[in-house]
Amino acid sequence: METIDSTRLHLTEEFAEDNLGVKQNEDGSLTVTMVAARYGFFPPEIEVPTDTPVKFRMASADVLHGVHAPYTNAATMIVPGYVSEFTTSFPTAGKYSFLCNEYCGLGHDSMWSRLTVVDKSAGGAK
Ligand code: CUA
Repeated sequence: METIDSTRLHLTEEFAEDNLGVKQNEDGSLTVTMVAARYGFFPPEIEVPTDTPVKFRMASADVLHGVHAPYTNAATMIVPGYVSEFTTSFPTAGKYSFLCNEYCGLGHDSMWSRLTVVDKSAGGAK
């Protein structure tokens, strides 16, 4: 597994605040970089197209978190000190939520963020 210093995430290039979010790769796939921290996922809103491989790279800034997006197969644990990575794609457009599924403190139940999947064919040339 890939390790990272969770207490210094903001000082890394990849997980610095300005570099979080959705990036397009040369092959047309996407990479989404996110930080999990009490009590939210950052950035709090991301948007990706349907039927496109999306590689998520997630790191915790503090304690153990988990993430899952109901009605999709996006899920992973986010262990402090490691980069969690998984790749998936979303066949169905809609609004989804990333929910924390590891108890991480008093705000655990309100730890979530928004994932919007937009229809790739409807989007046209952007
Ligand atoms: Cu983060 Cu529960």
